[in-house]
Amino acid sequence: MERTLSIIKPDGVKKGLIGEVIKRFEANNIKIVGMKLVKMTKKEAKGFYSVHSKRPFFESLTDFMSSGPCVVMVLEGEKVIEKNRKLMGATNYKEAKEGTIRADFATDIEKNVVHGSDAPHTAAFEIGYFFQGIDLL
Ligand code: CMP
Repeated sequence: MERTLSIIKPDGVKKGLIGEVIKRFEANNIKIVGMKLVKMTKKEAKGFYSVHSKRPFFESLTDFMSSGPCVVMVLEGEKVIEKNRKLMGATNYKEAKEGTIRADFATDIEKNVVHGSDAPHTAAFEIGYFFQGIDLL
C-alpha cells in the first residue's frame, strides 16, 4: 500500500472539475483517506513548490497556485503514485495521452488541473505539508 498527494488546482476548481476528478479516482479503485479545500498564501505555495524555486516558471506557478482554492487529497492504494500519474497524464497537456485528466481538461502547461506526487519521498513531504497523521483515515 502506498499513499500520494493529489491537488485539484485553482483552474480545476474554477472549471467545476472536483467531481470529475474524484469520479476517476473512485472508478480506478483509489481510496481517498484525507481531503480538504485550501487557499494557499503565496508563501505557502512557494514552500510547497520549493524544489522548483530556481525554475523560470516559479513566480508564475506560485501566483497561480495561491490565486484560488485547491482541493488537496491523500490517495491510498497499490502503486497509487504511478496510478495517479497515469490518470493525470503528462505535465504538458499537449503531450498527455488521450483520456487522461490533463488531455481532457488542461489548457496550459501551468494551468494543468491536477498535481500528483512523483515519488515516495516527495509524497511523504507533500502529504506532511497539508495533513497531520491524525487527519488521515
Ligand atoms: P505540477 O505537476 O504541479 O509540477 C510543477 C508545476 O509547474 C507543473 O505541474 C505545472 O503546473 C508548472 N509548470 C509551468 N511551466 C512548466 C514547465 N515549463 N515545465 C514543467 N512544469 C511547469
